Amino acid sequence: WPEQARLISEINRLKRERDAVILAHNYMTPEIFHGVGDYVGDSLGLAKEAARSDAKVIVQAGVHFMAETSKILSPEKTVLIPDLRAGCSLASSITGADVRRIKSRYPGLPVVTYVNTTADVKAETDICCTSANAVQVVEWAAKEWGVDRVILIPDEYLARNVAAQTTVGIIAWKGRCEVHERFTVDDIAEMRAAYPGAEILAHPECPEDVLAAADFAGSTAAMTDYVEARRPKQVVMITECSMASNVAGDVPGVQFIGPCNLCPHMKRITLQNIRDCLLHMQFEVTVPADMIERGRLAVQRMIDLPP
Ligand code: 13P
Ligand code: SF4
Repeated sequence: WPEQARLISEINRLKRERDAVILAHNYMTPEIFHGVGDYVGDSLGLAKEAARSDAKVIVQAGVHFMAETSKILSPEKTVLIPDLRAGCSLASSITGADVRRIKSRYPGLPVVTYVNTTADVKAETDICCTSANAVQVVEWAAKEWGVDRVILIPDEYLARNVAAQTTVGIIAWKGRCEVHERFTVDDIAEMRAAYPGAEILAHPECPEDVLAAADFAGSTAAMTDYVEARRPKQVVMITECSMASNVAGDVPGVQFIGPCNLCPHMKRITLQNIRDCLLHMQFEVTVPADMIERGRLAVQRMIDLPP
């Protein structure tokens, strides 16, 4: 603990000296999330904060695609990530060249892309979505393009979960989140048997039978809102392990139980490398200007959709 306290105090001092803000994703460990994060939230919320902030430097306490999204929305700012290896199995499942191939197979259909993608893929996209707004975005795109099918990439499970909630046809890709694909209906059955009163919340990157067995499905921010608004006595969060620890810090009296899986990419970010990041101004995330321009259109379209 003394070492953590020392690092937190050093980071907070460096932030002021560098005119920096730290955007911390909901999957950061609690000492990052509660100790040094200036803005905390889901991937979309953090990108919006990046654009709103007038700090010169953004430190992305999250994974690489999130830092790229911040750069796309705030090209004039210096965007740093404490470890360049913090990737994502969804983002690495598809390239811009793959998207061009899909487009040539389905000419005239809009491409809706989950934000968990590289800037290269966003540049080939008509509109982005998050797990919080995917159904709304898909329906908007179908109407706007005057078609009855859309391309929704790269998460196969998110695509199936959206398909179950809309009449718009979905053309999907084979990407998966290595963390959420491991949850099963048996995990939920065990929890129901052991804790009959518990409310079970699951992230839309889980397989569809897991979501069907849960009480609520939503993005990391939607799960937080759900618990804060309803204050159930016991909650199971079918998602990354730090999520429950972070929400627990804000809702005393709610008991968090059940299985979780660690994201090895998110866990590359530590207090130590956040300190080093601010001390040495490393590692800068850059995106080529033409990709920023094209990717920004896709992200901004999503942000501008009415709620
Ligand atoms: P959210 O957009 O819900 O924060 O999800 C990001 C993510 O990486 C989930 O695995
Ligand atoms: Fe990617 Fe899954 Fe990790 Fe989120 S939890 S960053 S989707 S691998």
